[in-house]
Amino acid sequence: MAKQTAGALTEEKANGRVYTPDYIVSNILDLCGYQGEAVLQRHVIDNSCGDGAFLTEAVRRYCGAAAARGISPEQLGNELGKYIHGIEINQGECQKCLANLNQAAEQFGIQGVSWDVFSADTLTVDRFDGKMDYVVGNPPYVRVHNLQDYEAVKGFSFAKSGMTDLFLVFYEIGLRMLNRSGVLGYIAPSSIFNSLAGTAMRECLIGRRNIKAVVDLKHYQPFEATAYTAIMILTAQPQAETVYYEYDQQGRIPRAVSTLRQEDFCINGSFAFGIREDLNELKQIMSYSGKKACEVKNGFATLCDRFFIGDWDFTEYTIPVIKGSTGQWRKCLFPYDGKGKLLPFEALESVPALRSHYEQNVDLLKKRSLGPSDPWYGFGRSQGISDVYKRKYAVNSLLRCPGDLKLSLCEPGTGVYSGLYILTEHSLDEIREILSADAFITYISMLGKYKSGGYYTYSSKDLQRYLNYKFAERGQDGDE
Ligand SMILES: C[S@@+](CC[C@H](N)C(=O)[O-])C[C@H]1O[C@@H](n2cnc3c(N)ncnc32)[C@H](O)[C@@H]1O
Repeated sequence: MAKQTAGALTEEKANGRVYTPDYIVSNILDLCGYQGEAVLQRHVIDNSCGDGAFLTEAVRRYCGAAAARGISPEQLGNELGKYIHGIEINQGECQKCLANLNQAAEQFGIQGVSWDVFSADTLTVDRFDGKMDYVVGNPPYVRVHNLQDYEAVKGFSFAKSGMTDLFLVFYEIGLRMLNRSGVLGYIAPSSIFNSLAGTAMRECLIGRRNIKAVVDLKHYQPFEATAYTAIMILTAQPQAETVYYEYDQQGRIPRAVSTLRQEDFCINGSFAFGIREDLNELKQIMSYSGKKACEVKNGFATLCDRFFIGDWDFTEYTIPVIKGSTGQWRKCLFPYDGKGKLLPFEALESVPALRSHYEQNVDLLKKRSLGPSDPWYGFGRSQGISDVYKRKYAVNSLLRCPGDLKLSLCEPGTGVYSGLYILTEHSLDEIREILSADAFITYISMLGKYKSGGYYTYSSKDLQRYLNYKFAERGQDGDE
């Protein structure tokens, strides 16, 4: 998994090296059914094995099952060399893995195993294809811009959409390694459920109907670096149903929430998980195309709030502005006319305090990523400008619970930044009632856009769709 720290591209980051805690390893092996006598004479591989978190536990399970079956040490030694496989690109890590496997085997009195664990680039290895009973692991998460060999990655069909990531390629290779009754269990970013980059993979899984189980860890962080992850259990054979689990952080085990058909969780090409009833409602919201009782838009994007938003002494060419994320009012320099057209700079210069404010910050303003025809003294983007003289409601776009909602009336002549705003004929109280209900939190949690601190985020489109669906449900969609 790629560390999210800024700065130089370290070897760890380039190879996505982060290790999996023991309890997650056990969860994945259990969900795959790699336990008890089922493991005997079955091939298991971790094709990005690091120092062997998965393989050492696999060895322990194998040895335990062999002891229960009364298999001789000599035979057990041979079987470990034949059925346990690992690939790791980093030689040092590979050596550590071998040492850890020897240590695990020695605890069962087994020595001198000729392990099939070696250092190589998994993208170039095909000798396991179609042969593995179990493929397990925590594949490297390396974003496209950090990939050292992008050409090699581009050849894989799961890497064809959007800004790809190496873990998608490992899903493709892992599935290819399975034999006809094989099972794959990986922990990887949950963005796979709704990202553009995950599109090709989702299409493949939908075609194969092979998702046996999903454990969405949601906000829970089992790794040192922040990543929102999910465990997926995929099979070579199609599955009639998928079991959806959430993660019990105290017990450190997955808890089954629902048993779903593919049609329940595959919504407009993305995956969303929850109980069937909530997913049915989500499907209706996502496909709602009736009357628009509300329009939701993004607030100002000045691309330099510290210049445009402040508490200066001058009042000319300023408007009150609300920060959508906090509900706090401030003053905003607004160099536009009543129709949202940028004023000539000469008009602004006529106010001495304003002229000096501009003069002191020319470089700062010019450093913004502006379009070629965007004047340097205006906002960086045009969003929100033309609605200043309309009545609207500002709202935040990050929530954990109904109590986090910040909804405020903005009279004509005021602006919104760092948040969204709603244009509608409906009253503030009606909007508040809809957005303060637990059902709204359920909806945004199913969208799966996780943020740190336990927050969910949503876009203007997500909110607009929800409000319009809810008003239609109440028979108040503006049709009467
Ligand atoms: C997230 S770590 C997981 C390590 C181990 N499976 C675990 O769970 O603790 C991913 C590992 O993949 C290795 N890796 C990265 N690219 C690889 C490649 N192309 N072929 C093989 N291994 C690779 C990294 O060096 C790293 O050890």
